[in-house]
Amino acid sequence: MQIRLDGQVALVTGASSGIGQGCARALADSGAAVAINYNSQAEPAERLAAEIVAAGGKALAIGADVSDEQAVQRMFQQILEAFGHLDILLANSGMQKDAPSAELSLDDWNAVLNVNLTGQFLCAREAIRIFQRQGVRSGVSRAAGKIIHMSSVHERIPWAGHVNYAASKGGVDMLMRTLAQELSGQRIRINGVAPGAIRTAINTDTTAGEEGERLLDLIPYGRIGDVEDVANAVVWLASDASDYVVGETLFVDGGMSLYPGFRDNG
Ligand code: BGC
Repeated sequence: MQIRLDGQVALVTGASSGIGQGCARALADSGAAVAINYNSQAEPAERLAAEIVAAGGKALAIGADVSDEQAVQRMFQQILEAFGHLDILLANSGMQKDAPSAELSLDDWNAVLNVNLTGQFLCAREAIRIFQRQGVRSGVSRAAGKIIHMSSVHERIPWAGHVNYAASKGGVDMLMRTLAQELSGQRIRINGVAPGAIRTAINTDTTAGEEGERLLDLIPYGRIGDVEDVANAVVWLASDASDYVVGETLFVDGGMSLYPGFRDNG
């Protein structure tokens, strides 16, 4: 099975680094034109866009804070002006601000919920409005549009010391499934991806060395994931190869969500 997304336009939020960056690259490699959203890091987003264009693809870096309603609306407007339509949204922007719950400030609770949950809602809402106007573009895709919500194993696994993050990802699960139930009749296909421990530039301290070794106890498959593991799942969910998959979360976690602590207990 070779997956091609030629003629389609994808927006990836939070694409200046890590999983978002890898997914934007993979979508472009599959033939999609890609809008690369960033919040504060313009330079790596511009560089990725330039790389994609130099390789013969289409890409545009766009700055916007996904928790700012007007900024989100401007971003979608810019995409329509540049590319004419939109077919795929990967709502990926996310952040962590960790603290024991008794010490977690309201500001840090709100900051994480605003980006991880409200930001996904605001982007999904704009995408849905475009997909509803656009309808199915025959010859391009069987769906009027696809949305992929980036979740985490922590939509299912409670995570002490990260209550804001875990609550936001639990919310993403219900956001995704409710939108899927509401909109699939209009051929808007909505799913989620829940990565486990993935090696990226910003988490080398927890995925390498001794900490990385300890992390392996939580991963039955015995390796830390790579960005490409997540990107492959995203490209598949964005394509017609998964056209009958609706309202599902695909766990890409090496088995982390299988309660590995019970392997020798219980
Ligand atoms: C977090 C990572 C963490 C992983 C597994 C992800 O959602 O962003 O920092 O390693 O979950 O706990």
